[in-house]
Amino acid sequence: MTRHLVSIDDLRNDEIEALFACADEMADLLAKREPCTLLAGRIMATLFFEPSTRTRLSFEAAMHRLGGGVISVPDAASSSAAKGESLADTARVISQYADVIVMRHPADGAARVLADYADVPVINAGDGSHEHPTQTLLDLYTLRKEKGTIKGLTVALCGDLRHGRTIHSLAAALVRFGAELIFLPGRDLEMPDHLSRRLALRHGCRLRRARVSGVQFLVDRLDALYLTPSGPPDEFAFSEEATLREFGERLEKIDALYVTRVQRERLGAGGGDAPYPVKTDAALSDPRYRETIVMHPLPRVDELPYALDADPRSKYFKQAAYGVPIRMALLLALLEARRIFPAAPALHPAEPGPPAAPDGRAGVVISGRDGATPPCPNGRCVTRREALYLPPAFRILARERGAASHALILSCVYCDAEVAGTAVGHLGQRRYARYDAPLEELAERWAAEGALAVFAAEADAQAAGYRPFPPGPSRTVLSAEEVAQAIADLARRIAEAHADLGRVRFLGIRTRGVTLARRVAALLGAGGGTAVPVGALDVFEFRDDTTPLDPGAPAGTDVPFGLEGHAVVLFDDVFYRGRTVRAAMHAITHGLGLGRPEAVQVAVLVDRGHREFPIEPTFVGRAIPTSRRERVFVRLREDDGTEEVVVQAPIAEA
Ligand code: CP
Repeated sequence: MTRHLVSIDDLRNDEIEALFACADEMADLLAKREPCTLLAGRIMATLFFEPSTRTRLSFEAAMHRLGGGVISVPDAASSSAAKGESLADTARVISQYADVIVMRHPADGAARVLADYADVPVINAGDGSHEHPTQTLLDLYTLRKEKGTIKGLTVALCGDLRHGRTIHSLAAALVRFGAELIFLPGRDLEMPDHLSRRLALRHGCRLRRARVSGVQFLVDRLDALYLTPSGPPDEFAFSEEATLREFGERLEKIDALYVTRVQRERLGAGGGDAPYPVKTDAALSDPRYRETIVMHPLPRVDELPYALDADPRSKYFKQAAYGVPIRMALLLALLEARRIFPAAPALHPAEPGPPAAPDGRAGVVISGRDGATPPCPNGRCVTRREALYLPPAFRILARERGAASHALILSCVYCDAEVAGTAVGHLGQRRYARYDAPLEELAERWAAEGALAVFAAEADAQAAGYRPFPPGPSRTVLSAEEVAQAIADLARRIAEAHADLGRVRFLGIRTRGVTLARRVAALLGAGGGTAVPVGALDVFEFRDDTTPLDPGAPAGTDVPFGLEGHAVVLFDDVFYRGRTVRAAMHAITHGLGLGRPEAVQVAVLVDRGHREFPIEPTFVGRAIPTSRRERVFVRLREDDGTEEVVVQAPIAEA
């Protein structure tokens, strides 16, 4: 099986360690200046469709040092790419001339396409702003050489984190090796969402953000920072205050500062005018940074002063020099001139092409011919350039649940950019439905069968000639009388549980939870009973499993009383997985600033019997077990003009 290096995730940690051991040997060989013939008779093609000094020349030096030959396309104008030749054809042709291909290309995801069509190993020497895995190898090698280990190091990554491909590969690798990271982006140059999600999904590492405008330490001109969490996930520790506290602790020990230039070639008109973080001359004089090394993938522009070059902590030229032994080791490994990689199964075995989905789900690829997926949203994606033969292709990465809408998050197979699909369809039946939780299983089945279509919006499905699925069968599980009885039961149980209703406060989760709380409060207050105050909670901003699809939606929290020392009863209409209630708990304990309640209980009209978290409702109107593939609609007369609970299958399948 031909192995490629397209993403740093194509190599396991033990394989990277094995490359380092080989690089040590190669460095000794270079020091002795002894002739080497390990790759005699082999040819490497270097295709550089973007400028390079270090990567191209160090690869070529590595091949020459190993006794091999080099053929080269040194710039975009000097190959038939300038006449419009596709990457697929380039791969097929150059595979006949060379034993390994090293390519740099301006399109995100270009290296993956080349690897898909080449018969020889392909090495990604930088594809647009996507990845630069061999730079990461020498960055990790530098850290290990200078610090003896990578695990436990604190590394600050600074500058253009949005477009810096070296950062994208390096951040993922550092987390894998157990380093702790501080991200110090320039304004509007934060890491792309897909990288944050990759760190979260693949490595369980959800970043924390804090504003730090005006803070000055190793670099100047910062607006915000991000941290990797240092301990096990603590869902209540994501406040800005906690992040700043941890930042303060981490500042005491920064092992490496990794500086990058602004990638002007990837910014639109007017881009790059915002203040950019720069390394200040004086910063390293702080005794805390006595041992902090400074790294840079180079070239530098003005973010790193020349005065720093003589400082023994500056390692960027040494870092560049390591490019030769590291790339010698990589060439030996991929050309199998030596058994370097441990014999364990490869990370992405069997089929050539893209790796399994990053969150570990089966790597089902959905491919968008005939408008049956959205285009890749990344204007620099290779699918935009090579559209004649390369349709958009995605994996299902995650599901997002918004207040009003749900979405399937798709990840581009080539460039990792994300797009949200709010409607799903069946390719054979040419029907579509709005995507929501009950459609998850069905959509997964269609994907496995190769029949899933995904649309950014229902209008796109209609434009592609799809008709809506008819709604599935529905059944009324609670009549108006039964709903009223269930609410009365809730009121009775709450009264039984609280001898002193004067200490109780009701919080309804918008929208029907508020109505429910008011109905229960009215029953308890009837005939001179205690009037329990009712507040409204909009938990959407506290949900960590969603990102707002409708960010302009008004916040609906209205709690005109304190909670300190009170017994709080949280109301919701339906208890399903427990995510809403968990978010409401978070809001109460951390977000509202209304004091610490003595206890929080949960009251729901309908308990569907599913659990994702160890949260149990205390008061249940009716337990109504339902399948995950069903929708439950609670209708209350104040909100809906009618009163019932209905269970419905989302679609009637043909
Ligand atoms: N670090 C790096 O990729 O340098 P070049 O652009 O000069 O290859």
